[in-house]
Amino acid sequence: MPPALKALLAQLVGGIGAYALARHGLLNDLGSLVAAQAAIATGTAAAMRSARWWLPIHLVFLPLAVTLRGLGLPPGLYLGAFVILLLIYWTTFRTQVPLYLSNAETAAAVAQLLPSTPVSVLDIGAGTGSLLRPLARLRPDCRFAGIELAPAPWLIGRILGARLPNLTWRRGDLFTPSWTDYDVVYAFLSPVPMGAVWGKASAEMRAGSLLISNSFPLPAREPDFVAAVGDRRGTRLYLYRIPAQRPAR
Ligand SMILES: C[S@@+](CC[C@H](N)C(=O)[O-])C[C@H]1O[C@@H](n2cnc3c(N)ncnc32)[C@H](O)[C@@H]1O
Repeated sequence: MPPALKALLAQLVGGIGAYALARHGLLNDLGSLVAAQAAIATGTAAAMRSARWWLPIHLVFLPLAVTLRGLGLPPGLYLGAFVILLLIYWTTFRTQVPLYLSNAETAAAVAQLLPSTPVSVLDIGAGTGSLLRPLARLRPDCRFAGIELAPAPWLIGRILGARLPNLTWRRGDLFTPSWTDYDVVYAFLSPVPMGAVWGKASAEMRAGSLLISNSFPLPAREPDFVAAVGDRRGTRLYLYRIPAQRPAR
């Protein structure tokens, strides 16, 4: 079951459970009703084996909503916050890849890993371009391209990279365009899509080209090389050389 659906189900079970307890006279004020909903929702999420970080979210969700409602804030504020989050995270509930950015140390490490000859590089899920902009400045002989799905990061990347002649920027799904023309594909995604990323890379990329994954190794495939960036985050880059003989997926 997709995590967002599990979360919705846990909240509903929490609501139904708290309502049933109230009907039996076991809860007699708003505070205990809210606490019961939160506890049941959290227990349900744990029973459905939701990722650990969902549990504190379930625990505070309704108590926070009720507290904020008590503050009497204008409803437009909630709508505004929702729209901002939507533009930043877009379909994260489906892709399970949120926005977080490669740091300057990672960009410098990737620059060291690029061949000395001119190459073309694609960042799949390019965010705001925090990896591609420094690379495009460091290597004017190379071609860089970014593809990003979420509107706000895409727009920020487009504005910030507008003056770089060797950077192209497009909005779309990373699985749609062909990766055949790229010598290096860089991914900083999450564990969820890595199997599909390897499926597409091994089907489309030329033999000898390079897939670099920041932080998330491919499932069931040993990297050809692992580079430690040496930053505070302890970032590791997993490098996979596309073989001439394509392994079965
Ligand atoms: C962890 S961020 C990495 C951003 C950038 N590559 C960097 O290293 O700074 C992942 C990005 O991938 C984007 N993304 C997730 N799924 C995508 C998809 N199917 N197609 C295009 N972009 C996607 C997200 O919106 C997010 O901005």
